[in-house]
Amino acid sequence: MNARRIKKVSVVTPRRRVLPGQIIVPRSSPKTFYGHGLPGVAVDALIGTLVVVEGADGSGRSTQIVRLVEWLEASGHATVQVGLKRSTLVSEELEKAQQGNILSRTTLSLFYATDFADQIENTILPALRAGFVVLADRYIYTLMARDLVRGMDEGWLRNLYGMALVPDAVFYLNVSPDHLIQRNFAKDFALGYWESGMDLGLSRDMFDSFIKYQSLVEQQFKRLQTYYRFTIVDGNRPSDQINEELKLKIASVIAGTQ
Ligand SMILES: Nc1ncnc2c1ncn2[C@@H]1O[C@H](COP(=O)(O)OP(=O)(O)O)[C@@H](O)[C@H]1O
Ligand SMILES: [Mg+2]
Repeated sequence: MNARRIKKVSVVTPRRRVLPGQIIVPRSSPKTFYGHGLPGVAVDALIGTLVVVEGADGSGRSTQIVRLVEWLEASGHATVQVGLKRSTLVSEELEKAQQGNILSRTTLSLFYATDFADQIENTILPALRAGFVVLADRYIYTLMARDLVRGMDEGWLRNLYGMALVPDAVFYLNVSPDHLIQRNFAKDFALGYWESGMDLGLSRDMFDSFIKYQSLVEQQFKRLQTYYRFTIVDGNRPSDQINEELKLKIASVIAGTQ
C-alpha cells in the first residue's frame, strides 16, 4: 500500500446502540460541577452514573424509580437512591421546621440546601466513586423552582447550587395539573399544605391554590429547562409507557451512547 492510500483510510468507531433486553456495558462519562462544587473532590474518580427524575408532586417519580431500580439491579447494575429531605444530618429537623412553618424563606431554602449538600457528600459521591447508578428522586431544579416561585434571586440560587454535580441525565415528568390532582388524591387522599403552595396565599381554597401553585412551579421548570437542558418526558401517559421510554434512554446513558 502506498502512503496516499493509507492516508485515505479512516477508522470509524461504530456507535453502539442499546437494544431492549441487551446487557448494558457501562462506560463512564466525565463529571463536572455546575459551579464551585465541593472542595477536594477528584471528579475523575466518579465513574458511576447519576440519573435524576424530576417532576411535580404526584407526577409519578416514585412509581418510575421503583421500577427502574428493579430493572437496573436485575441487569447487574448496583443502584443507590437519593431524594430531597432524606439526609441523615437534617431531614428530621427540616420536617419539624416545615410542620411548624417557623422559618423565613431564605432559612428554609438554606435548610434544604444543607440537606442536599449532605447527600451529595455522603451518599452521591461515594456511590459514584464505587461505580453505582445513582437515581435521584428530584434534584436542585425542584428546590430552585420552588424558591423562584417565592421570589428568591436566581443568581443567588445558581451560586448556592454550584455545589451540585451535573447529572448524566435529567428526566422531567411533565404532568398536567388536572392529572396531578387525581394522582395526589390516589396517593394521599388529600392535598398537602406545601404542595399546594398555601404559604403563598394564592387562594384560600386548597384545590384552587394547588392548581395555581403547580402552574407557577411548572413555569419556573420550563425556564430552568432552557438553562439546565433536561429531557422532558410526557408523564400524562400510562406508567408502562413512561417506563419503557425511561429504560431505553437510561440504557443509552449508562452505555455512553446517548
Ligand atoms: N403514569 C401514571 N398514570 C396514572 N397514575 C399514576 C402514574 N404514575 C403514578 N401514578 C399514581 O399516582 C400516584 C402518585 O405517584 P407517585 O409515584 O407516588 O408520585 P410522586 O413520587 O411523583 O409524588 C400514585 O397513586 C401512583 O400509583
Ligand atoms: Mg414520591
